[in-house]
Amino acid sequence: MAPRKIIIDTDPGQDDAVALLLALASPEDVEVLGITAVAGNVPLALTQKNARIICELAGKLEVPVFAGAAAPLERTLVTAEHVHGKTGLDGPVLADPKMPLQRQHGVEFIVETLRAEPPGSVTLCPIGPLTNIALAFQKAPEIVGRVAEIVLMGGAYFEVGNITPAAEFNIYVDPEAADIVFKSGAPITVMPLDVTHKALTTAPHVAGFRAMGTEVGRMVAEWTDFFERFDKEKYGSEGAPLHDPCVIAYLIRPEIFSGRRINVEIETTSELTLGMTVADWWGVTDRPANAMFMGDLDADAYFALLTERLARL
Ligand code: BDR
Ligand code: CA
Repeated sequence: MAPRKIIIDTDPGQDDAVALLLALASPEDVEVLGITAVAGNVPLALTQKNARIICELAGKLEVPVFAGAAAPLERTLVTAEHVHGKTGLDGPVLADPKMPLQRQHGVEFIVETLRAEPPGSVTLCPIGPLTNIALAFQKAPEIVGRVAEIVLMGGAYFEVGNITPAAEFNIYVDPEAADIVFKSGAPITVMPLDVTHKALTTAPHVAGFRAMGTEVGRMVAEWTDFFERFDKEKYGSEGAPLHDPCVIAYLIRPEIFSGRRINVEIETTSELTLGMTVADWWGVTDRPANAMFMGDLDADAYFALLTERLARL
């Protein structure tokens, strides 16, 4: 089968970095048409720079990186330096990237690519707030029907929230954008905290990254060491959730994930539960299903895939 054409929309973030590396290491499965940066974990000036650092680390200087939205549609940006550090990629010492940022705006790139490629051939992979995707859909509503699938990291049902008691970070940062995307009618697959909180980095996983003996292996181990400190303290768990690579792993090995096709709506008004993904997991309403909402993954298979693929870089 030909590799799936994808656009990764991202706010790196150490776990975003691992997702990008996994995609860039897997050309037989995914063809990365471009990477669009969005403000999220850290401001846009850093996320677009971090995306280029990661492409250079992977030796993939030909992959175009675009800057998208610097702020959510209607709200002030909320960032997550408390998790990812000041740069978003705290841990190892990183040099500034040399590869250029594309001149075109990230939203323009998404619109243009979906118009140019055959309908149903491009998959969008948002692993940050959904601002760029919503802006693209607002600007060019006709592209919605041309999207093959949106596979995104965001939301939660059983795990509820990580930035507030009720909301997951990516959805909370731009709930209006998430609302537009979930109502768009495009086929959506969601990797919520219910899945990603089972993708825990353990000491043997991190040792495995380090044992690769490569620059990529060392970086991934150092990034993991860094963000583990926060998550271990917060969750009292053995390791930290490696959220965003679930999106790319799903494109490569969908059989390691399981979930339900259900209705998911986004809370945009309540102060208390803003950004909550109201997921009808038990089918208690007549609201039509609009998303495949994942609930479980085979963590051993996930880390085996990550280790095998990252070792190629
Ligand atoms: C999500 O929020 C970010 O901090 C991570 O990169 C991930 O995309 C997890 O809630
Ligand atoms: Ca992210």
